[in-house]
Amino acid sequence: MRDLKVNLEARSYNILIGDHPLKTIGVECKKFLKRNEVWLISDENVLNEYKTELNSCFKKSNIKLNLYELPAGEHAKSFTFLEKLTDWLIDTGIERGDLVIAFGGGVVGDLVGFATAVTLRGVNFIQVPTTLLAQVDSSVGGKTGINSKFGKNLIGCFYQPKHVLVYTDVLKTLSKRDLRSGYSEIIKYGILGDINFFNWLEKNGQKVLSLDNVSLEEAIFRSCIIKADIVSLDERESGSRALLNLGHTFAHALEAAVGYNDRLLHGEAVSIGIMLAAEVSNRMGFCNIDVLERIRKHFNNTGLKTCISEVDFSFPSSDELVNLMFKDKKVANGLINFVMLKSIGEAFITNSVDMSVVKDTIDYSR
Ligand code: GLY
Repeated sequence: MRDLKVNLEARSYNILIGDHPLKTIGVECKKFLKRNEVWLISDENVLNEYKTELNSCFKKSNIKLNLYELPAGEHAKSFTFLEKLTDWLIDTGIERGDLVIAFGGGVVGDLVGFATAVTLRGVNFIQVPTTLLAQVDSSVGGKTGINSKFGKNLIGCFYQPKHVLVYTDVLKTLSKRDLRSGYSEIIKYGILGDINFFNWLEKNGQKVLSLDNVSLEEAIFRSCIIKADIVSLDERESGSRALLNLGHTFAHALEAAVGYNDRLLHGEAVSIGIMLAAEVSNRMGFCNIDVLERIRKHFNNTGLKTCISEVDFSFPSSDELVNLMFKDKKVANGLINFVMLKSIGEAFITNSVDMSVVKDTIDYSR
């Protein structure tokens, strides 16, 4: 069991990581309760798996469980479900000092975080992420929100959880594809800020993906430490937090082109996006060719895609993909802020990237 702290003064919280059984959830939550009642929100797929267990855990801890079931999928991150959820919280008598539990993947965490931020001007919530991607990324750092008709995550706010509980045991029910998708965010941390972690992943990545407990816990712990350190320095992304977007400007354009569906999972888009960022860094003269070859090799060894051509979809032209990149939140003064690489473990942010190099790199990857 590992424990680490996200240092944010009065908003600081801990992340508990381990293969401890889910039945400890009642005891863990009790520490945050003013009265013996919780509001747990999840989606239909996750609840099919865990509803009975959750009911019995909270019953044993003598905690009344109010349960809300969302539909599975990205469309839950909408005004419709934000309204349903806030109505339900108010209708069931929640008070500011009560506790909401976001139990699920990134969609559940983002929506529930936002709903709790705006209900009664802020109700406490904790994150219990059930996908690898959510365990190493979206559950940590307080980004919450829903999608707008103009794009993904355009409505939201920073609202930190009171605690993050990572149960690695729940990953056993994930598909290999979902695990790999989460793993690409783990590799991202090594590439953007920790060469020793990247070296470790080269040796232990397969063990992480085969859910070897020790390796998995270590990989999640080290990822969360890197993210927690970055978030502690720049909670609201006015500067260095943008490093966490390595590969994401490319990835979001690819996902938007596909239509945010299962043809291209987020982590799959991220591995291609990181590769494109590395290629552009090399073509711009920021890093040498060994950097991108080493990254490509590790993605290949762990079954992650590195080229746009590997996705079974007919993508629009590089001009149109670049137009999609300009719709991202990371555009400032008409320029895209790119995360580029000097070496593995050393990323930096710049808006001085030649867009013709970006287009050529996209064309080369197709
Ligand atoms: N997922 C990037 C961030 O939390 O800033």
